Amino acid sequence: MEARPFPSRALVLGAGTMGHGIAQVLAAAGAEVELVDTDAAALERALGRIRSSLERLAAKGRIEAAEAEAALGRIRPRRSLEEATPQAELAIEAVPEDPALKKELLRRLEEVLPPESVLATNTSSLSIDALAEALDRPERFLGLHFFNPVPVMALLEVVTGRATDPALVPWARELAARLGKEPVVVRDAPGFASSRLGVALALEAMRMLEEGVASAEDIDRAMELGYRHPMGPLRLTDLVGLDVRLGIARYLESTLGERFRPPAILVRRVEEGRLGRKTGEGFYRWEEEPAAPAREGSQGA
Ligand code: 3HC
Repeated sequence: MEARPFPSRALVLGAGTMGHGIAQVLAAAGAEVELVDTDAAALERALGRIRSSLERLAAKGRIEAAEAEAALGRIRPRRSLEEATPQAELAIEAVPEDPALKKELLRRLEEVLPPESVLATNTSSLSIDALAEALDRPERFLGLHFFNPVPVMALLEVVTGRATDPALVPWARELAARLGKEPVVVRDAPGFASSRLGVALALEAMRMLEEGVASAEDIDRAMELGYRHPMGPLRLTDLVGLDVRLGIARYLESTLGERFRPPAILVRRVEEGRLGRKTGEGFYRWEEEPAAPAREGSQGA
């Protein structure tokens, strides 16, 4: 594969928490981005969040106000893949962690995009090799795993499958640099490097909460003040979404075993719709703004 430049046109599938952030950083780095979601309300919300994030970065002097405006102008919402121009050099899917859905979209991307375009998934744990089964040309497919909030977090986890062209690794490193991120390169293994470790810590924190070892706030404070984590594992689970972490835990349990079995407290809260910050309650209660929890989380169930 020839050396590839930074993509001037990109497609991002899924306008949720991760998709809108990925669209933002690509546009801020100069790409024309089409952000695709079948849900019109999700697209509208995404554009609002991108605007306020860019304004926040501009207010801090991290980006010129005119550049923030230009970046926003480079993002076009699309209701379907058919509405998008089929010329993107890079497509990243950031739809929910449903393997069948992801495979179907990757198959459709392969149909509509030029054969040399790079296809990527933002999956936080699903196997790159398993997703690649949907593709005729899996050599141009890899994992580009971003972190929430995307405009702030410095990491880009680059995940290579068995079939991924090795030339995509230096390309992905360069892409990370252009997006202002540091890459780590990980081979396809359940949970990669980040989710496997992050979820292990969070599940243990939940078991400690269940056992009444300490309150949610004190468990988090132990990691924040004692280990300098910017956010304790329970508060972070609220930020990421309890449903998202439950999905990852179930997948890791099925691939790595027993030690990733989701604690009952997590399963129950998801069943109750207490999904974290996005629903206003998870291990903590959340107000709309600011980003801090409104009060201490309840102990135990
Ligand atoms: N856009 C732009 N800027 C933002 C922002 C956004 N969406 N969110 C936060 N910021 C900026 C703030 O303006 C502030 O800037 P400053 O340093 O110049 O003042 C800075 O980021 C810090 O924000 P706050 O002062 O509001 O709050 P905190 O200091 O508590 O930081 C945080 C917030 C960056 C979220 C921090 O708590 C943190 O790093 N938490 C851990 C996040 C984390 O671990 N994410 C990974 C989750 S796992 C994942 O995403 C993988 C997926 O697959 C599930």
